[in-house]
Amino acid sequence: MHETRSFAPPPAFAAAANLNAAKLEQLHAHAACDHEGFWADQARTQLSWRQRFEQTLDSSLAPRYRWFTGGLLNASYNCLDRHLAARGDKTAIVFEADDGAITRYSYAALHAEVCRLANALRGLGIGKSDRVVLYLPMGAQAVIAMQACARIGAIHSAVFGGFSAESLKDRIEDAGARLVITADAAPRGGKRVDLKTAVDKALAGGCASVERVLVYRRMDGCAMQPQRDLWWQDRVPTQCAECEPEWVESNHPLFLLYTSGSTGKPKGVQHSTAGYLLGATVTMQWVFDLKQSDVFWCTADIGWITGHSYVAYGPLSNGVTQLIFEGIPTYPDGERFWRMIAAHQVSVFYTAPTAIRALMRLGDHLPARHDLSSLRLLGTVGEPINPEAWMWYHRVIGGGRCPIVDTWWQTETGSMMIAPVPGAVATKPGSCTRPLPGICVDIVDEDGKPVTQIGRGGFLVITRPWPSMLSTIWGNDERYAETYFGRFGDQVYVAGDGAQRDEDGYIWILGRIDDVLNVSGHRLGTMEVESALAAHPRVAEAAVVGRPHDIKGEAILAFVVVRGERADAIAEGLPRELCVWVAEQLGAIARPDEVRLVDGLPKTRSGKIMRRLLRSIGAGETVTQDTSTLENPAILEQLRG
Ligand code: WTA
Repeated sequence: MHETRSFAPPPAFAAAANLNAAKLEQLHAHAACDHEGFWADQARTQLSWRQRFEQTLDSSLAPRYRWFTGGLLNASYNCLDRHLAARGDKTAIVFEADDGAITRYSYAALHAEVCRLANALRGLGIGKSDRVVLYLPMGAQAVIAMQACARIGAIHSAVFGGFSAESLKDRIEDAGARLVITADAAPRGGKRVDLKTAVDKALAGGCASVERVLVYRRMDGCAMQPQRDLWWQDRVPTQCAECEPEWVESNHPLFLLYTSGSTGKPKGVQHSTAGYLLGATVTMQWVFDLKQSDVFWCTADIGWITGHSYVAYGPLSNGVTQLIFEGIPTYPDGERFWRMIAAHQVSVFYTAPTAIRALMRLGDHLPARHDLSSLRLLGTVGEPINPEAWMWYHRVIGGGRCPIVDTWWQTETGSMMIAPVPGAVATKPGSCTRPLPGICVDIVDEDGKPVTQIGRGGFLVITRPWPSMLSTIWGNDERYAETYFGRFGDQVYVAGDGAQRDEDGYIWILGRIDDVLNVSGHRLGTMEVESALAAHPRVAEAAVVGRPHDIKGEAILAFVVVRGERADAIAEGLPRELCVWVAEQLGAIARPDEVRLVDGLPKTRSGKIMRRLLRSIGAGETVTQDTSTLENPAILEQLRG
């Protein structure tokens, strides 16, 4: 936090930018004096409406805010149809498969594919408000599936392919999905990921709402259940390539996306159609300084919010060309990203700090072998970026000439909230700088009072509703109100992150202040991992904390009290078995780095697990907390491992 380096926008970049300092100032000024009028203007000019909205913001059900009420539109129309006349032949998607095979889709071709799938879905009886779970590999089909759902007003809920059958089942059941769209299997980093097997397992354990499973044949096939399962390739290609969109009201749910919170059960974050799409559309112009000539590449998987806003919707709504990649950065070797940037002439590149750190470790000579001069702007998202990784990204990947946009936002915020506008705002390594126009951010103390002292931490809050905010938690308005607005009232959205300001008013994110971990940029609840552990017959009790990790940012450390003798359990290799168990229960991303078996967990006299103590121990710090309340002080030694 003692970072003093600052990088002003390069003059040539600023001169050509969508927003220079003066234009940005105008937007801020407009939003500051007329918040609703500002967003109404944006909505009118950025989106194509079937019918104009009547009211900009309806707060009558606060904290359930409704934006642009009475308007009718369709997200897929905005992403596809409205480009056909001007740029139907322009490439919308360049897809590079794991093995390097390339497929291109023009806007016209993508439109036709989306219409065909939308017609096929209608043929299966899927329509407005039906939930469709997508369990698909990263690829054009995932985008086509999302767009097809949007086209007919169905609500998609994408589940990351790395989640287990068990996690998939929970999400399908909570959403009450009628249809699952998946693939037989997918190649990823040279390995095979069996998606359909996981779907079969999930459905065998429940999921009574699911009527059909539509399977995209990506590899060599899979077992099919005759009454239930259908091949995409049998159903879709024969459909008509035109499909009338379902015009929906602005607040019609576009999708659900499950994310981790501080309980054991992930919550279905519900996003609206108009407000969400507006956020995804306009932030790309502001923060990515998007031009029609850009080749945009966001490396996030479709299973995360970044893959929604900046792969499935934002780029298409803006009519640009984007690259979509099926694989991983280190396959077949650590040059994959750099080779792809050169081959496809990528100009704007958006990735996660964890990927940057992993690639930085492999050495400067790998990117040096490739011509990265097509790049003009770099972005990061998902977790705080350490200044060392930022500087490497800037110097080695950006050649010192590309601004870096460090973008803070969340599944719940729908689009970027705090990020530099690269032609106008100087950047500092490790800071996401300032809020975007129309986004009112503050840092407050326990009592909700603004923290004015420089360098003092507090709760990061958003003090006015914004269009791309979540509408609610699916089926649970109370949990929505309590989680996000329970602390400081209906007006103040609590993000769950800690933050502080520096002397220039720049915001520095300090990380989560709730029981949420951030492993490789992925959100995971400590409670989720704890309940997975507790489901194992040998586990009596478990406590999970994050500990600092060079590449992943944070890694999972679990303390487990076993049933029976601790020594026997260690001799039998139970810690390893539990790591595998968690991966099976939740998915590989939740696999603990280490499981420590202990005879008891440190608790206060009132019985609360002393998490802060466990975190200090995990980080290898000297314990400064008062441990006098520990029932059994000898446990400290076991906890240290
Ligand atoms: C963290 C990802 C620091 C933060 C878009 C937030 C960040 C959580 C940044 C949301 C950033 C995201 N700097 N921390 N630029 N971006 N985070 O829902 O803790 O997967 O609350 O959304 O990631 O994660 P989510």
